[in-house]
Amino acid sequence: MYRKVLMATDGSATASKAVRLGADLARAVGAEAILLHVGEADRGREVLSGVSKEVGKGLSVSTRTVQGDPADKIIEVAEAEGVDLIVVGNKGMTGASRFLLGSVPNQVSHHAPCHVLIVKTT
Ligand SMILES: Nc1ncnc2c1ncn2[C@@H]1O[C@H](COP(=O)(O)OP(=O)(O)O)[C@@H](O)[C@H]1O
Ligand SMILES: [Mg+2]
Repeated sequence: MYRKVLMATDGSATASKAVRLGADLARAVGAEAILLHVGEADRGREVLSGVSKEVGKGLSVSTRTVQGDPADKIIEVAEAEGVDLIVVGNKGMTGASRFLLGSVPNQVSHHAPCHVLIVKTT
């Protein structure tokens, strides 16, 4: 069904919720998981070591940190890696309560080369 699942996190609690769901799904279908943070390398290491420890049991997980616009980079990595599912949260770090959907899932859903799972985290 899915062979490679890309999960994107900014390190927020809502993104972590999406990652946990994505990891459960990847495990259930026997897919490989890629955890992606878009931002500074140091922050990426911190964020990704935490989440990969948390969700990595029984799952093949690799981690990436790249700099740039989050939505652009999520799409780029998805294309480069040939992933068949992208998992993002409906909200992230900013978590503005007047929006149900952040700009990242909005943009990703418009440009993704594959299925997108937007996890309702709030
Ligand atoms: N810098 C980032 N790196 C990786 N994923 C991100 C990043 N920013 C946002 N995301 C993904 O997009 C989701 C929604 O975040 P976003 O659209 O930025 O909402 P908000 O406006 O609440 O911060 C997050 O849960 C996460 O999955
Ligand atoms: Mg954000």
